[in-house]
Amino acid sequence: MSRRVSLTQYLVEQERQHGRIPAQLRLLIEVVARACKRIAISVNKGALGDVLGSAGSENVQGEVQKKLDVISNEVLIEANEWGGHLAAMASEEMDSIHGVPHRYPQGEYLLLFDPLDGSSNIDVNVSIGTIFSVLRKVGHARGVSEEDFLQPGKHQAAAGYCVYGPQTTLVLTVGDGVAMFTLDREQGSFVLTEENLTIPEDTQEFAVNMSNQRHWAPPVVRYIDECLAGKDGPRGKDFNMRWVGSMVADVHRLLMRGGVFLYPWDQREPDKPGKLRLMYEANPMAFLVEQAGGLASNGQARIMGLVPSKLHERTSVVLGSKNEVERVVDYHRSALP
Ligand code: AHG
Ligand code: MN
Ligand code: MN
Repeated sequence: MSRRVSLTQYLVEQERQHGRIPAQLRLLIEVVARACKRIAISVNKGALGDVLGSAGSENVQGEVQKKLDVISNEVLIEANEWGGHLAAMASEEMDSIHGVPHRYPQGEYLLLFDPLDGSSNIDVNVSIGTIFSVLRKVGHARGVSEEDFLQPGKHQAAAGYCVYGPQTTLVLTVGDGVAMFTLDREQGSFVLTEENLTIPEDTQEFAVNMSNQRHWAPPVVRYIDECLAGKDGPRGKDFNMRWVGSMVADVHRLLMRGGVFLYPWDQREPDKPGKLRLMYEANPMAFLVEQAGGLASNGQARIMGLVPSKLHERTSVVLGSKNEVERVVDYHRSALP
């Protein structure tokens, strides 16, 4: 029988072999994984658990919150508050940062999350997920403020996501490649099912919401038009398209078999740099994708080099197979006056 490696064992062995995962970070990752198991249970209950539909409230971005957005946010906070590994948390679903209550010891890490990604897919039983990103609090000043979170993604100590799909899978990087774990429901533990995930440099599959095509900037229109032209166009090959509408599911697919994912800036809200959130969605996914040999850009610059000016900052996103992302960046460059 092949050796089964649990998430805990993987983290302990990584620390022994490479010294990359200090005890607080290991605890943090295990606590997030435990929270994801709890969220998976709620997701699976569906209508039987009264978890579907709207919560009747709005988040700071003006989006209607679903019950599962609120439940997942609470599960992650409750699980992470008391372990002594965190200084504070920030979430897509909370206006401002959430410090660790004074009755608990304060740790050195900052945890950011999109508690439930793909909210529009909850009620139709399509894959959704949780995305998380870990930063280190810099400086020794007491207390935590929003400024402590405003670090570029290249400073992430770890990042990952959990997909609640046909299987529940946790995908993780601590800056030394990407590993995937599958939830064994009978045992209640995440088991290592793939190591060193690699995204092929070339692909014939793209993911974008085509209904926004008329609003895109010319370099994006050009790139997708050329993909659509297939064999007869300048690319000389046919492309396939997929759009789940949950970033976790779309990014998971490209980590498994290659592809390029775009959520570009568009003219619907010209003052917003994009729809997706830099700190809760773009940065963690960029870290995973780069660790798997892909690239992540906003069209002009590397996502992980962007210095956020506010917690809920948004960005345009192009990520996945290296040669495709480079091409999109190239089309942006050559469109400059
Ligand atoms: P969230 O559910 O956390 O608000 O994120 C939804 C995001 C992302 O998961 C997905 O790629 C994108 O929104 C889908 O947007 P459209 O509905 O505009 O296609
Ligand atoms: Mn999201
Ligand atoms: Mn969300």
